[in-house]
Amino acid sequence: MIHNTIRIRFTSFTMLRMAINQNIRKLSSNTSCLIKCNRLEGKVAIVTASTEGIGFAIAKRLAQEGAKVMISSRKESNVKKAVDKLKSEGLQVAGTVCHVGKAEDRKNLFEKTKKDFGGLDILVSNAAISPAVGPVLESTEQIWDKIFDINVKCTFLLMKESLPLLKCSNSPSIIITSSIAGYQPFNLIGIYSISKTALLGLIKATADELANDGIRVNGIAPGIIKTKFSKALYESEEAHDIAVMSCSMKRLGMPDEIGGATAFLASDDASYITGEIIIISGGMKSRL
Ligand SMILES: NC(=O)c1ccc[n+]([C@@H]2O[C@H](COP(=O)([O-])OP(=O)(O)OC[C@H]3O[C@@H](n4cnc5c(N)ncnc54)[C@H](OP(=O)(O)O)[C@@H]3O)[C@@H](O)[C@H]2O)c1
Repeated sequence: MIHNTIRIRFTSFTMLRMAINQNIRKLSSNTSCLIKCNRLEGKVAIVTASTEGIGFAIAKRLAQEGAKVMISSRKESNVKKAVDKLKSEGLQVAGTVCHVGKAEDRKNLFEKTKKDFGGLDILVSNAAISPAVGPVLESTEQIWDKIFDINVKCTFLLMKESLPLLKCSNSPSIIITSSIAGYQPFNLIGIYSISKTALLGLIKATADELANDGIRVNGIAPGIIKTKFSKALYESEEAHDIAVMSCSMKRLGMPDEIGGATAFLASDDASYITGEIIIISGGMKSRL
């Protein structure tokens, strides 16, 4: 009985907070199209895994700020849909299929970007997978390899392969999508979380190495953002309540709320920032 009353009160409180937050968000998304922010005018960006969710939102924001953006993901139909959508908004984008785990696709991604847009200034490495749930030490070697291959090794390879183009840019930068789970592992997706912690290390190590070439390397660490990828964390009412309780702002994030921080890191406003990670989590705890 008491438990039910607390739950009803919590649900009403959460709903009220959500309504307020939704209105704030509506206001900010309405005004965002009015803001004339051209920080990325003249720059060229690649965003991997950019046909949906966070990658799509990042690509859109970079393009809204003036960048020419190469869209990519594994499925041609998704690439076409995303490119058509962004072009219909008057944004300068092109697209190509790129499964980040395929060397030939990555090669084509850089070649097409050079051919279509003349070079590269910004690489956003955003693709990741989390194909299994369960305790870390009950997982198989194959699952471990698959997650580390796509999430960590392919990020390293994309960075390495982007260098010939980035070294020709006047203000090159790399941004890697890590996760709040890289700071505090999520239950049952431990290996995914560990791979995201590894990316924090990759950012720090390479930022130091690439500073001599003028290439800045930074990261973003989203909290729980409403996308297909994170559905299990908010689909049921119970999961949603737990997720919402874990952040100070008492709501989940939306993909569009990731784009602004990424655009900032890619822009000259962040010209003295390297080796850093911006946590975009509505206040979820983020200590290693
Ligand atoms: N959502 C969250 O709460 C959250 C939180 C923290 C971090 N992140 C990170 O944010 C990034 C994007 O996640 P999301 O939530 O936006 O996912 P999402 O909405 O499910 O979108 C996934 C995107 O990745 C593409 N993709 C999947 N595997 C790929 C591969 N091997 N190569 C290239 N593209 C691939 C998909 O298109 P195709 O199917 O056409 O390939 C799709 O465009 C990931 O790095 C994830 O770890 C997400």
